[in-house]
Amino acid sequence: MACAGMATMLPLLNGCSSSAQLVQAALSEDELQVPFTAFAEKDWVIVRSKQMEFDVFLKKETADSYKAILMRCSHRNNPVQRTSTGFVCHEHGSRFNSDGVVLTEPASKNLTELPTIVKETYVSIKFRLPQI
Ligand code: FES
Repeated sequence: MACAGMATMLPLLNGCSSSAQLVQAALSEDELQVPFTAFAEKDWVIVRSKQMEFDVFLKKETADSYKAILMRCSHRNNPVQRTSTGFVCHEHGSRFNSDGVVLTEPASKNLTELPTIVKETYVSIKFRLPQI
């Protein structure tokens, strides 16, 4: 089992002051590994890596299906913040729903969804390096 890139969990307070799970993960080759145990309390986590400029929102949709959204605004590449209903970019006010779909301009493109693969004990978030 490859553990080098496996994540650790830390508490996080998000912009809405509700607690969330921040998962620290090392980028290993072209993937981030997030263990299933990260979803013990919630069906979503925010994944952070020192090698990446932007966090990744990772949501468990079913037992074998996860959605990963790069938390980078599609307008001018600033970080977006998680809200109770989706994401907001405080730079110019763009808003996105929880699937990363644009609700409010100036952004005109949805947030980037990253491919995920469910492994035996973890979820792999796949990257192509120009994405991060
Ligand atoms: S950079 Fe996000 S709205 Fe402009």
